Amino acid sequence: MSGDWTLCIDFGTAYSKAAAAPVDAWARFNPSTVRPLMLGAHSEQSNAFLLDSAVFIDGDRIVFGREAIHRANAQSKGKRLALKSFKTVLGAPDLERALNANAPASIDPHRVFQMRDLVVLYLAYLLEAARHAISQDYIIAQASSLSYRYAAPAWRPDDVAAPHITVRQLFGDADALRASVGADLLSPGGLSVQAVSDLMSNASAARPLDMGLVFEATAAAAYTSIGLEDRVSHLIVVDMGAGTTDIAALEHTAAAANELTEARVTLKQAGDFIDSVIASAALKAATWARDTDAQSALWLTMMRQMREIKETIFAEGAATLRHEGRTITLSMRDIERDADFRDFVKVLQQAYDHSLSVVRRDAKARRRSRIDAVAVGGGAGAPFVQELFRARSSRASPSVAVRPATPNWAYASEFKGNLAPVFPQLAISIGGALAPDAMLAAFGEISPAGTGQSDNQPARG
Ligand SMILES: Nc1ncnc2c1ncn2[C@@H]1O[C@H](COP(=O)(O)OP(=O)(O)OP(=O)(O)O)[C@@H](O)[C@H]1O
Ligand SMILES: [Mg+2]
Repeated sequence: MSGDWTLCIDFGTAYSKAAAAPVDAWARFNPSTVRPLMLGAHSEQSNAFLLDSAVFIDGDRIVFGREAIHRANAQSKGKRLALKSFKTVLGAPDLERALNANAPASIDPHRVFQMRDLVVLYLAYLLEAARHAISQDYIIAQASSLSYRYAAPAWRPDDVAAPHITVRQLFGDADALRASVGADLLSPGGLSVQAVSDLMSNASAARPLDMGLVFEATAAAAYTSIGLEDRVSHLIVVDMGAGTTDIAALEHTAAAANELTEARVTLKQAGDFIDSVIASAALKAATWARDTDAQSALWLTMMRQMREIKETIFAEGAATLRHEGRTITLSMRDIERDADFRDFVKVLQQAYDHSLSVVRRDAKARRRSRIDAVAVGGGAGAPFVQELFRARSSRASPSVAVRPATPNWAYASEFKGNLAPVFPQLAISIGGALAPDAMLAAFGEISPAGTGQSDNQPARG
């Protein structure tokens, strides 16, 4: 198969995701042509569709992804941290200032890198992982051209141009670095601090990468709308990731999705916050862990297994874990007893009510009788997110129809059962790849697929 394809990158607080689709996929949707990329296939990630968003400086090496998390965990007593919060940097009110800040000593003990350098390093790793994944995908590898997009939280409509050019520049610099250091980015040993800092200080600015920008909520709406037999007119999306919970609403016509900006809310509590609530509940339950050492050891055990613990608590109401020969059982009730958690749920409900009232007003004015709601992100299945929908779907008009987080087509045999379990996390990259140009917040250009060495187009596999 050949043709023009679109690739959308979603760099999340915890995981980066990417997906590709043929450019005409919106008009002629066929699930078998959607290609989520196995960004994590080069390492032993728990799910190959997810790439850990992390950079860690370990002695004289810079390591990435899962390896960065492993090494940072192993040194957690030394107050060393992996940088995980790229999104926080990119979401800063003064982006240039945030990028020009020196990385803190906990992240960069050599004090040689600015935040910009670390973001560029991570994006180089991400682009190399994408290049590797594309080379392993026999369908996309044959595409004749590939245009790039990235998904980002919505910026103010009057303030899109400046951050968009900054992000394109970061990707451009990252791709130039990727072209110089190549496959070492994916090796567990990573890169040499000295070599990278020499390379970076001698590099002239690369050309910004040609990339379109799709807002995350628009992308989520795009994925939800496609493949449905009936078109959705109003959609409210709750995206609970690791770093933020974002609520957004769209009014949707056949060609375009218009965001109802008044409905947009971002809360700074999401998966990472729930993790700390669960870990605190474990510390409280473990009355035998009295001193600081015992408590830090337990905290570490919790954090290492958090994903499984959280998933089990959400799905089954309770989870049991073992630590140093003891057993701790944690239930959803333990979580619900936490005062910070209760505050969070209250704020989440208020935020959802606010957004829903904005959507209802618009739907009424346009004489629509129905609003669709969908949860995406890793927290989509959390009981308190589902409860949000259940409690507020009922009587008031227009009514709210709750869409499943995972559409039927994600279970298609082509995906061999691997896509459905992580679909809510991939929804944004998939929707971003499928969305027609009319849904983009800013544009890039379609560049011919090259041999991989052009200075403004990421290399192909
Ligand atoms: N099945 C699950 N049950 C509960 N939590 C889950 C599940 N799967 C993933 N998570 C949690 O979801 C979060 C990651 O979700 P996601 O990939 O959507 O975040 P992100 O895009 O990296 O973050 P953000 O959008 O905030 O930048 C983590 O906190 C992870 O522990
Ligand atoms: Mg996300």
